[in-house]
Amino acid sequence: MDTMDDVVRSFDLVLLPGDGIGPEVLQAAVDVLEAVAEGNNLDIRYTTLLVGGAAIDAYETPLRTQDLERCRKADALLLGAVGGPTWDELSVETRPERALLRLRSELNLGINLRPVTWTAAGGRHAPLTEEVAQGADIAFVRELTGGVYFGQPSYYHRTVGGRHAVDTSTYSEKQVQAVLEFAFELARSRRGKVTSVDKANVMNTSRLWREVATEYGRENPDVELEHALVDSFAMSLIRSPRTYDVVVTENLFGDILTDLAGVIAGSLGVLPSASLRPGGGERRFGLYEPIHGSAPSLRGQDVANPVGSILSLALMLHWSLGRTDLANKVQHAVSQVMAGERLTADLVGKGTTAVGTREFTAAVIEQLKERGGARERRDIRHHVA
Ligand code: IPM
Ligand code: MG
Repeated sequence: MDTMDDVVRSFDLVLLPGDGIGPEVLQAAVDVLEAVAEGNNLDIRYTTLLVGGAAIDAYETPLRTQDLERCRKADALLLGAVGGPTWDELSVETRPERALLRLRSELNLGINLRPVTWTAAGGRHAPLTEEVAQGADIAFVRELTGGVYFGQPSYYHRTVGGRHAVDTSTYSEKQVQAVLEFAFELARSRRGKVTSVDKANVMNTSRLWREVATEYGRENPDVELEHALVDSFAMSLIRSPRTYDVVVTENLFGDILTDLAGVIAGSLGVLPSASLRPGGGERRFGLYEPIHGSAPSLRGQDVANPVGSILSLALMLHWSLGRTDLANKVQHAVSQVMAGERLTADLVGKGTTAVGTREFTAAVIEQLKERGGARERRDIRHHVA
């Protein structure tokens, strides 16, 4: 949808700053959103809720049920990051990460889109040579509500015979179909190729995955489908990243492979993500967050790279707000600034100067302003419900 809406539309946006650098990078995205909304018929209503470690400290739970219900009513959710050493001793069921996992599963966000693109700025920092990585542009589609993340039984027991732990991976045909459908549709708007990654030589869930993918591929011959085993794929991804277009895979493999793909982008700090509900539609509900963690050691120092968060906002403008025109503007402004001389510490190198999160964000807004005005800064801390 590349049309400019001429009626003002209101969107109910829930902000989930979380922990560590989460609040700072989310603030950057909100500043950019305010700048791009101005004069573009967008009226955003904000609600800020505590999640993760911040919620554990305030309410003794990583996500209150009433907050989950509030999220369900929103048009979209924008999240910073969760977790940190303060909460390391907690069990997996009570850790900050549980907030994220609950949101994903209870809001049925089975499709996780993680675009990874090579940029010159990131490329200078990538251990891969330009020859190998230049021009790489991969859209990872990670299944997000199944696999070992949610399978039962899952427990950790201390017994007289020693400690014993179990995790279970489960997948249904429907879950696999939903991500494949999304991956194929996405490939049609890109270079027309899907790589399905599994471990079909060992795991039953992967055998199911490959069967469903093969059948779906047969019914949709307009898209080129290839299968790869996750171990050899990991090597090939780094050896020849340009060969891949859309990569679709299960929850755990997707978690690992997208961090690995950060090597192609040069920094995890620049990678965005969208978690979407299967089923389509022009304005679908989604949770948007950078793929990096909460980086507790960088917290409050104004050094975090806000690009992953700002590009997540761009994904939100496209998938949940139906404003591809504005998504493109944001993406373009980020590219312009990234091609310049002022970069955050993770990307700084020869011929460039390190700037803070705020200064980098201001430069992005400056770029946007050339195409429309920016409003006063809205402090997300003023809106905690
Ligand atoms: C991610 C993260 C999460 C995951 C953690 C924080 C639970 O690593 O989004 O990739 O494992 O999915
Ligand atoms: Mg991860």
